[in-house]
Amino acid sequence: MIFAGNWKLNMGPKAVQNFFKEFKEANINEETQKQCYFFPQNLSLSSAIAAAEGLNVNLGSQNIAAEKSGAFTGENSLEVLEELKLAYCLIGHSERRSIFKEDLNDIRAKMNLLNSSAVSAILCIGESLEEREAGKTNEVLKEQLETALLEVPETKDFILAYEPVWAIGTGKVASPEMAEEAHLFVRNFLKEKYSEEKAKNTAILYGGSVKPESSKGLSQMPNIDGFLIGGASLKVDSFKGIIDNSES
Ligand code: PGA
Repeated sequence: MIFAGNWKLNMGPKAVQNFFKEFKEANINEETQKQCYFFPQNLSLSSAIAAAEGLNVNLGSQNIAAEKSGAFTGENSLEVLEELKLAYCLIGHSERRSIFKEDLNDIRAKMNLLNSSAVSAILCIGESLEEREAGKTNEVLKEQLETALLEVPETKDFILAYEPVWAIGTGKVASPEMAEEAHLFVRNFLKEKYSEEKAKNTAILYGGSVKPESSKGLSQMPNIDGFLIGGASLKVDSFKGIIDNSES
């Protein structure tokens, strides 16, 4: 299981320091620490790197630009992630898609940029409520996967996160069965596009209002390999509660 905390536009440098101080005090064993990923806002990344020293957790960025450098005011560069030795980056989070108008082509360009980098994506996909109600979930997932992964080779590692848009930050969590159905669809997509092995070795996370109470049932599903957690990742208590309740 992977436990990834997406801190969004929360957690300034001080809050990050306090979080990792508490995290250290929580005595989470080393193996479990390796299963933890945190995505602070970029201005808090340096503070996170310093505060997480001595821990075995993974850190990454919530977004990168589709270009490495140049005249792109306000953007975040992959080169800086590499310099900071951060191995992960969220790509295509639904808030990036809906609020910042990232389209399928933008997301594909970002995925392609990572092809020649040691940084791996956690590629987020998911349908809106309207799309689900219209019976278009699989169609939407297929299109998002097809475009984002079009030029990504089998040898490139990435993680996928299925996050139904209607479940993000709403308190409405997908039922384990509903999530499992989507995860199985995604797994089969990987099998068809790449291979059985790639499908087996690629983690597929569920995201959308994951809380300690809902994590147990979701974690029991065979195709759910972890969680991308927003709100409940802001406090060590609830983040650890999710870990403790999950079955690996
Ligand atoms: P949430 O956010 O857990 O607060 O719903 C999940 C996400 O946006 O990744």
